[in-house]
Amino acid sequence: MENKLNVAVFASGGGSNFQSLIDKKEEGLLHVNFSILVGNNSTAKAFDRARQHGIPALHIAPSHFESEQAYTDQLLDELSQRNVDLIVLAGYMKMIPQKVVQSYRNRILNIHPGLLPAFGGKGMYGKRVHQAVLDYGAKISGITIHFVDEEYDHGPVIFQQTVPVKDDDDADALAARVLIEEHTWYWKVVEAIAQKKIRVEHRRVTGSVE
Ligand code: GRF
Repeated sequence: MENKLNVAVFASGGGSNFQSLIDKKEEGLLHVNFSILVGNNSTAKAFDRARQHGIPALHIAPSHFESEQAYTDQLLDELSQRNVDLIVLAGYMKMIPQKVVQSYRNRILNIHPGLLPAFGGKGMYGKRVHQAVLDYGAKISGITIHFVDEEYDHGPVIFQQTVPVKDDDDADALAARVLIEEHTWYWKVVEAIAQKKIRVEHRRVTGSVE
């Protein structure tokens, strides 16, 4: 465990991306240590997944604290106590506090179910993304895996994969096709980072993911 990257996964919902990371680790393909699951919603299925796989979990939300500062300090403390190297957002619905972004610059990953910079930004999550793609009439959607900066869906892009939009798609059908790609690629990006294959210079991220 010593040389493995200590990963904190942040999730607010079902956590299917979290599950796919767990599965890849258990299959021996992803070489990281899951230090903690962080969630803002205690009923999130992601917590059950953590419990089932012996991953420690922390329920922490801004509303538990008197101030944003107190919340941020506690969050940073929890992360540093566990020597977290990398934060992986997997359907996490809260903004990451600026101080955490600064402390973990280019060490926080997010996955977006669309091709950024289109169909992203505040309020663009879940089905809304897919509906916006369909309403616009785009022929291609996809996934974007990127580092997190101070703006929603804005940090340096690490990896993108396209997904075709089909004539008879509705938002659910498109979401399902996109989710398959999320599960295919997110763990590979995490593994590439664990293997130190990824370099970042300003917005340019280089290095191979496969
Ligand atoms: C995914 O579509 C991901 O792109 C987005 O939130 C969703 C999370 O799904 N950031 P799940 O909770 O991992 O199933």
